[in-house]
Amino acid sequence: MHITNPRAMFERAYAEGYAVGAFNVNNMEIIQGIMQAGAAEHAPLILQVSAGARKYAGQNYIMKLVEAALMDDDLPVVVHLDHGPDFELCKACIDGGFTSVMIDGSHLPFEENIAVTRRVVDYAHERGVWVEAELGKLAGVEEHVSSEHSVYTDPDQAVEFVQRSGCDSLAVAIGTSHGAYKFKGEAKLDFERLDAISALLPGYPLVLHGASSVPQEFVEMANKYGGKLGSARGVPEDMLRQAARSGVCKINIDSDIRLAMTASIRRHFAEHPEEFDPRAYLKPAREAVRDMVQHKIKHVLGCSGKA
Ligand code: G3H
Ligand code: 13P
Ligand code: ZN
Repeated sequence: MHITNPRAMFERAYAEGYAVGAFNVNNMEIIQGIMQAGAAEHAPLILQVSAGARKYAGQNYIMKLVEAALMDDDLPVVVHLDHGPDFELCKACIDGGFTSVMIDGSHLPFEENIAVTRRVVDYAHERGVWVEAELGKLAGVEEHVSSEHSVYTDPDQAVEFVQRSGCDSLAVAIGTSHGAYKFKGEAKLDFERLDAISALLPGYPLVLHGASSVPQEFVEMANKYGGKLGSARGVPEDMLRQAARSGVCKINIDSDIRLAMTASIRRHFAEHPEEFDPRAYLKPAREAVRDMVQHKIKHVLGCSGKA
């Protein structure tokens, strides 16, 4: 079993210009699919748990599922809280064995974001736990990504934020957004800004949220079998590769997992309407997650063989 702090993972990723995938987990099949992909590629993994996932599955269940998965595959795995809303939830996850937490104070005024992050850092560092924070705002689901809806991270503020809060990694806003509807027109990220932040924080690991690429094969499959996903669009894979070479050591992926599972289950239901054994549709759904994650590791993140 090998649940670890991400420090060594990020040091190597930064030095070699690749990123580690941070995949959101909500249930057994998702954890198994991701772990199978990581094992096949001998890749480091970050399994991240949102407040919603924690509420859905239970913190203890998720920890035990990850531990069980690690008995089969001895990989370095970080268990991370995604978008921790406050100190109390971060504390609960630290106390429960998470090796990394995100305190998301990005919606707060600058000084309040620093204060809550500092509080989490003080508690986490005494216990050897990593802290990710966020500065800047990502646009919400289905909003057009523009400065009207998102506030991109200011490079000078990022330096001050890191120094004063003591956070170990920083999520930056450069044009990505959560969900499956990221761009109405052409996909565009502010790489100049990313490079400026990275240049001011040499050696420091940055994080890219909202980094699903929304593979069109899943959108088309879901729509073909009764879904209504319209013009879902994500971050092109070459942009993610570029981010990984510009100081981004952690790339967050949730929507692509949802799409892979949902498209697969829709197809199964359409092709086997007589079926009602959940294993019959959860097995291909788990395989779809595995194949998608394996593709990311190998062809997008660049972390194959880096475990
Ligand atoms: O950033 C948000 C993640 O995709 C988690 O989403 O809060 O619905 O679990 P959730
Ligand atoms: P996506 O919605 O692009 O998968 O982003 C997930 C994320 O950032 C989780 O924190
Ligand atoms: Zn996020």
